[in-house]
Amino acid sequence: MKELKTVEESMVEQVHLLMPSHINGSGRLFGGQLLEWIDVVGAITAKRHAECNTTTVAIDNLQFKAGAFINDTIVLIGRLTYVGNTSMEVRVDTYSEDLSGLRKPINRAYLVYVAINEEGTPVKVPRLKLTTEGQRAEWDSALKRNDLRKLRRKEGF
Ligand SMILES: CC(C)(COP(=O)(O)OP(=O)(O)OC[C@H]1O[C@@H](n2cnc3c(N)ncnc32)[C@H](O)[C@@H]1OP(=O)(O)O)[C@@H](O)C(=O)NCCC(=O)NCCS
Repeated sequence: MKELKTVEESMVEQVHLLMPSHINGSGRLFGGQLLEWIDVVGAITAKRHAECNTTTVAIDNLQFKAGAFINDTIVLIGRLTYVGNTSMEVRVDTYSEDLSGLRKPINRAYLVYVAINEEGTPVKVPRLKLTTEGQRAEWDSALKRNDLRKLRRKEGF
């Protein structure tokens, strides 16, 4: 296993065409369906970085910005924003893509995964090599989210 990996090495892109089975009673993409896709993209991003199994430990900042409708093309992109000792934060952006290829953001989520061994015990993950200003800014915001999560755990939220 490498000790240091870039954000690009674990990035994931997943595409869906919205079908009737993805739509809720008000004719829009069902939020629970989107959440499943987001968690799969996040988990694969984390697994690619950790090179072992991972488990979802927290999902936060899940913001639905716009609806999506039948026949829309949905694109999800997962990228690592932060790694701790055994935990990893992944940002998943979801877009609705029109016929010209223009992508409108419909959701942004941050998820935390923990790398685990066969016994389910947390294991160390490679460090993250940041190569752009955007990645460094994401890392700094992730530190703040991490502190907030710790505070919430301490307060029993
Ligand atoms: C994930 C799990 C293995 C961690 O075990 P644990 O005994 O809490 O282990 P630790 O306290 O050593 O924490 C391990 C890491 O997880 C992080 N962590 C634990 N709980 C967290 C939470 N609620 N939010 C964010 N990070 C969390 C810790 O900060 C630590 O990160 P670090 O190693 O990078 O510093 C355990 O909590 C678990 O199995 N949870 C259930 C996960 C699950 O079943 N998910 C599927 C959902 S359906």
